[in-house]
Amino acid sequence: MDFNAELAARSAEIEEIISSFLPETEGYASTVIEAMNYSLMGGGKRIRPMLMNETYKLFGGTSVAIEYFMAAIEMIHTYSLVHDDLPCMDNDEYRRGRKTTHAVYGDAIATLAGDGLLNFAAETALGAFDTDIEKERVGKAVRIMFNKSGIYGMIGGQTADVLAEGKPEEEISEDMLDYIHKKKTAALIEAAMMAGGVLAGVDNVILNTLEKIARNVGLAFQIQDDILDVTGTFEELGKPIGSDERNGKATYVSIHGLEKAKADVEELSNEAIMLLHTFEGDNPFLEELLRSMIYRRK
Ligand code: IPE
Ligand code: IPE
Ligand code: MG
Ligand code: MG
Ligand code: MG
Repeated sequence: MDFNAELAARSAEIEEIISSFLPETEGYASTVIEAMNYSLMGGGKRIRPMLMNETYKLFGGTSVAIEYFMAAIEMIHTYSLVHDDLPCMDNDEYRRGRKTTHAVYGDAIATLAGDGLLNFAAETALGAFDTDIEKERVGKAVRIMFNKSGIYGMIGGQTADVLAEGKPEEEISEDMLDYIHKKKTAALIEAAMMAGGVLAGVDNVILNTLEKIARNVGLAFQIQDDILDVTGTFEELGKPIGSDERNGKATYVSIHGLEKAKADVEELSNEAIMLLHTFEGDNPFLEELLRSMIYRRK
């Protein structure tokens, strides 16, 4: 398998799926819709819809319903970035290689564009009820996706992240740092892989394993993000480096150091791949995708 060619083909397919769900820019509120589309089409890696679709295919899913969920989870992720970049949060000027939404449209429109994306994600995912898939699967997947992105997931993690800002390192417990990483980032990755599984009709035993795999992948993903905030470049990342230090963030690197952070990314990813092997079917691309994330530079 030519992994890079496969990755490029899948990324192009995801871009097309997401564009097909973009709202029309029209009416007195057209500015907010323009800001939503600007944020969404900014050239992200699309890791969440990709993991969702690969999990769906691993368990034999074939319905077009998955496209509604792929678009919806990228809308939720994008809204979290738009709000994360606001001056009242991480105050960052660049994202995905261009100006952040608030830098272009102002704080008020950026806040509304984030709200708009979250709301539109719900509408989009619920659109899957109009497809040929079993209705119970749609209901269960919607529930997981919004639970994992809400107060028990991403929003909870972002809250703890903000509250930990500026605190001296000795006041940040291992447990708190773990909570922040699990919730602010791993929870949405869990949502992606679990929704993919649920839509393909997996049982609860498999669903629990998917949650574990995704938690490892998500933790590794955020630790690597913390590493890249120190060792990356603006050109590779498309977002400012040194943002965490400037904001006095409790990151995996600031608490544990670079070497342990790197070792843990590898260990968590390998454990995820090992768990993936416990499933009957296989998806070589998915396995390679998880492996590639260990050494990602963007
Ligand atoms: C950035 O996510 C925020 C984190 C949770 C680390 P990504 O690294 O997936 O950002 P995009 O979507 O590719 O821009
Ligand atoms: C953000 O973590 C996670 C979100 C839920 C948006 P970061 O604040 O580290 O993400 P970046 O580095 O700005 O992408
Ligand atoms: Mg942040
Ligand atoms: Mg940030
Ligand atoms: Mg970061």
